[in-house]
Amino acid sequence: MKTVGLVGWRGIVGSVLLKRMLEEQDFCNIHSVFFSTSQCGQDSPSIKNILYKKLQDAYNIELLKEMDIIITCQGSAYTEKMYLILRKYGWNGYWIDASSILRMDKKTVIVLDPINSDLIHHAIEKGIKTFVGGNCTVSLMLMSLGGLFKEELIDWISVSTYQAASGAGSRHVIELLKQMGTIYNVIAEDLSNYSSILDIEHKVTQISRSNIFPIKHFSIPLAGNLIPWIDKKMSNGQSREEWKGQVETNKILGFKNHVCIDGMCVRIGSLRCHSQSFFIKLKKDLSLENIENIISCQNNWVNVVPNSIQDTLAQLTPVAVTGTLNVPIGRLRKLNMGKKYLSAFTVGDQLLWGAAEPLRRMLNILIHL
Ligand code: HSE
Repeated sequence: MKTVGLVGWRGIVGSVLLKRMLEEQDFCNIHSVFFSTSQCGQDSPSIKNILYKKLQDAYNIELLKEMDIIITCQGSAYTEKMYLILRKYGWNGYWIDASSILRMDKKTVIVLDPINSDLIHHAIEKGIKTFVGGNCTVSLMLMSLGGLFKEELIDWISVSTYQAASGAGSRHVIELLKQMGTIYNVIAEDLSNYSSILDIEHKVTQISRSNIFPIKHFSIPLAGNLIPWIDKKMSNGQSREEWKGQVETNKILGFKNHVCIDGMCVRIGSLRCHSQSFFIKLKKDLSLENIENIISCQNNWVNVVPNSIQDTLAQLTPVAVTGTLNVPIGRLRKLNMGKKYLSAFTVGDQLLWGAAEPLRRMLNILIHL
């Protein structure tokens, strides 16, 4: 059995990864070592086939070098510090990474095996040792529209995202909930007294703009608001999140003739599901039935939601999808612009297919080599 080191397993992505590995009994197939950047010496989780009962130092090069595989959700700063050192000291094991820092490196593969398992296996044969999870909106877009991409039917996509607080991290989710609570506390009495809605709204607006409103992490309110900017600014005016859409998609698919993807990425007040609205220009006019068929046959997790009010409300919302591996796609219809123009809306759990699940599945590919 291979020895696998886990780093950053207590953060929001790492915790979901651990939960999924336990559910799927992945620990029966590996010897595991739990590392910590801050709490080495404390008890490891009690898990089958664990090599050390205590947490090991995540900066211990000698011990890290003994791992066949290292899987890290610790973030870019850890990868930046440790990855090159390990490689420099001759470590030739497999590195599986949730962070974005190595994604566009030529010697890495962005993993999403329901979409690019051929590319992954080809890379393993070629001796590639570094596998990186994709940006969450990109992975969720590909899980939903994968059929159309694989058949090379897409000319271009314009996308608007509705991204959950969890994409920014656990402290942001907590801050969103605190903001919701702060608002509620200010108006709770008015709500039960049936006060005027404009008076209630005024109180909400005032507390949201006040300096006691909790905005340390988001820097502005998210509850009752939205934030049309995610990540740094690129030189062409895109946000980095918007830039990732095209470059990562084409790398995952191994496309030489790049599909053009652009749009707006927006943070909204959902907890852990990202939603995306697509306007797609197809290369040819296909019937909706044909399109639905191509989409739903691509993988086991995508499902086409009929374009009705009832089905959309029941199946195509963050509340309906959270905590599941389902990737529903609906609102499929031809647009007024012409027969090659298609709309679609998808929702996916950004901590599962958007982050932990592709890494867990990559680990399984490697442990079964
Ligand atoms: N960049 C994403 C977000 C996180 O901010 O929602 C997952 O890749």
